Amino acid sequence: MNILEIIANKRDKKQLSKKEIEFFINEYTNGKIPDYQAAALVMAIYINGMDSEEIANLTIAMAKSGDILDLSKFGKNVVDKHSTGGVGDKVSLVLLPIIASLGIPVAKMSGRGLGHTGGTADKLESIPGYNTVIDIEKFIQNVQNIGISMITQTMNLAPADKKIYALRDTISCVESIPLIASSIMSKKIASGANKLVLDITVGKGAFMKNLEEAEKLSDTMIKIGKKAGIETICVITDMNEPLGHSVGNSLEMIEAIEALKGNMDEDLKDVVLECGSYMIKLAGFGNNLEKNKNMMLENIKNGKAYNKFVEMISNQGGDISYIEDIEKFEKAKYIIPVYSEKSGIIEEIDAESIGKLACSLGAGRMKKEDSIDFSVGIVLNKKMYETVQKGEVLAYLHINDEKLIEKATKELLEIYKISDKLLPTKKKCNIIVTKM
Ligand code: URA
Repeated sequence: MNILEIIANKRDKKQLSKKEIEFFINEYTNGKIPDYQAAALVMAIYINGMDSEEIANLTIAMAKSGDILDLSKFGKNVVDKHSTGGVGDKVSLVLLPIIASLGIPVAKMSGRGLGHTGGTADKLESIPGYNTVIDIEKFIQNVQNIGISMITQTMNLAPADKKIYALRDTISCVESIPLIASSIMSKKIASGANKLVLDITVGKGAFMKNLEEAEKLSDTMIKIGKKAGIETICVITDMNEPLGHSVGNSLEMIEAIEALKGNMDEDLKDVVLECGSYMIKLAGFGNNLEKNKNMMLENIKNGKAYNKFVEMISNQGGDISYIEDIEKFEKAKYIIPVYSEKSGIIEEIDAESIGKLACSLGAGRMKKEDSIDFSVGIVLNKKMYETVQKGEVLAYLHINDEKLIEKATKELLEIYKISDKLLPTKKKCNIIVTKM
């Protein structure tokens, strides 16, 4: 068997056998297949797709490319959460400390920024000292000691996904159902949970642009979950405009800290509470979803969720003085208000364009070896369906490179679509449908 034949088979729309898929995953993980050949195969998968048997085989091969954690010591229901990605998506940062504060163990492996979307691991690293890179023993010990640990994909868990994920980002092969489903589910199988809530984002800022694709991705992952013994619930959520009001690493971290103190935007709250209510149910802590949401709100109100977050940050070496005083986060050199040039109602804030703009300011990676500027990004002052008067601030650009100011301002004004017509004044709930 050789990689040339495998690439040719997928290029010619043939089904790849289990053996071919395993060969590719093992050899690429071991560095025996170069990036350019892996890129050709990934592109062929992107273009020609895979059937459900191939997707299941790819997922299992990727999961088995490294260690598989045993979390059974945390009980018979070990619940995890993952998002398919979005812009301004700080759900995990808010949700998981709330869940841990209810006594449900959280062992979370998060990704880095991908394409125009941000990554939870990058956001966590905006807190000086916070270590997302720890070994398996320490990770498990953290969960045992304080009930929560959030890390990145550093250990030998699904290393094939780590390589393919970074590669896809650099060859425009992110938005693909087989590649997203295998990427997420391989990590989840390797990280040892047997219950899973997936936030499947849909809309302009998501990898799935319409509900049909989002439902197809959900069904694919639920099917993989069944095969792998992971009970999976998919909450499909709106990602047409950015979630919450800030986009960029430390800016989102600040918003998450505020949310844990009870100052949470409604759209973010919708997603946090919906996903959380199912996590609590799957963990066996309560079947009534409304009651579960109230339990979560109670732990925000009484400070337990915030305290759990502080404990987690401190336990992983983060400087908690930044959480206690958010003014300590390094600010961008220029904070530029962008004023509306007309009055009306905000009809559209294309989340993908906002994500790309934030990336161009330095908040994300253009190449896989790029480093990130934590302080830059965008803070939205107006969201969809709000009214705006000419001269009012639409958003603030946080920029370090003076040369980018003019272009970014112009782009932001183009991204905001303002209508003269009457539009609904209130945004619908951010939850579209739940599948299980
Ligand atoms: N999140 C992942 O972990 N993988 C993807 O492919 C997309 C989002």
